[in-house]
Amino acid sequence: MRHHTTFRQLEIFEAIARLGSFTRAAENLYLTQPTVSMQMKKLTDAVGAPLVEQVGKKVLLTEDGRELAQASREVFAILDRYTMSVAQRRGLEKGTLKLMAITTASYFAPRLLGEFAKLHPGIDVSLRVTNREQVLASMADNLDDLYLLGTPPEEIAVEATPIMDNPIVVLAAPDHPLARKKRIPLARIATEPWIMRESGSGTRNAIERLFLEHGLQLRPRLELGSTEAIKQAILAGLGISALSVHALTLHPPGQFAVLDVASFPIHRHWYAVHPSARQISVVARAFLDFLLGQSRTAPRIT
Ligand code: PGA
Repeated sequence: MRHHTTFRQLEIFEAIARLGSFTRAAENLYLTQPTVSMQMKKLTDAVGAPLVEQVGKKVLLTEDGRELAQASREVFAILDRYTMSVAQRRGLEKGTLKLMAITTASYFAPRLLGEFAKLHPGIDVSLRVTNREQVLASMADNLDDLYLLGTPPEEIAVEATPIMDNPIVVLAAPDHPLARKKRIPLARIATEPWIMRESGSGTRNAIERLFLEHGLQLRPRLELGSTEAIKQAILAGLGISALSVHALTLHPPGQFAVLDVASFPIHRHWYAVHPSARQISVVARAFLDFLLGQSRTAPRIT
């Protein structure tokens, strides 16, 4: 029968089997009823046995028909899987990846994106780095494929995958009087002039929560919207602050003193997030798998 049967005939037959009617199968496939009847006749001749029987207005399958319907479904499922895997390979050869990262993620996101882009040179990548407020606004408008941030939003339904550790440590200038002290109590830290991130920053929220849990309040001296500016202010002796260890990635060991403070580091994670409503693209899925294949530990600091 293989030499005389076409995929079109099997498709028509599968539709008849599924819908129980020649008319509905014709409508479903945008064909005329005579075409459906003629193709069914050819298929029946090729099989050499009746596939359907008409009982009143209903079309019922014979045993041979039922078996052919099952075989057709299996053939189509195999072909669908094949089509999907071709699409996946082509997507990875040519697709686009729009990524958005929160401020502090700028210390690792470009490196990871760069490595991924090298593996898939045909993919057009873009990365925007901005504050939490704008990341959440873009997420609500469904503008990017994937978002990297430290606290998944509660106000939007999202899928969040933890991808890496994000410890927050207290930093001071290397000649700061507390630099050599051990187990500095949180209450002592609260008396130091503090350099604060802007309100809404995930890092700031985590720090404020910790102090609040201990009934303490920080003494903000400066408020700076940039981690780089905070590092400069620390080195200038304007105060101390707490930052993600990722912010120290490119600094030689010893340039900052990492203070030994009780309850620090604050253990946090980085998440790759996408709105639940958005079907994740083939490329974004590949990037997520790539992220999960990377080391989860944050850079070591001294
Ligand atoms: P931040 O981001 O740069 O806003 O502090 C880190 C986070 O999302 O927690």
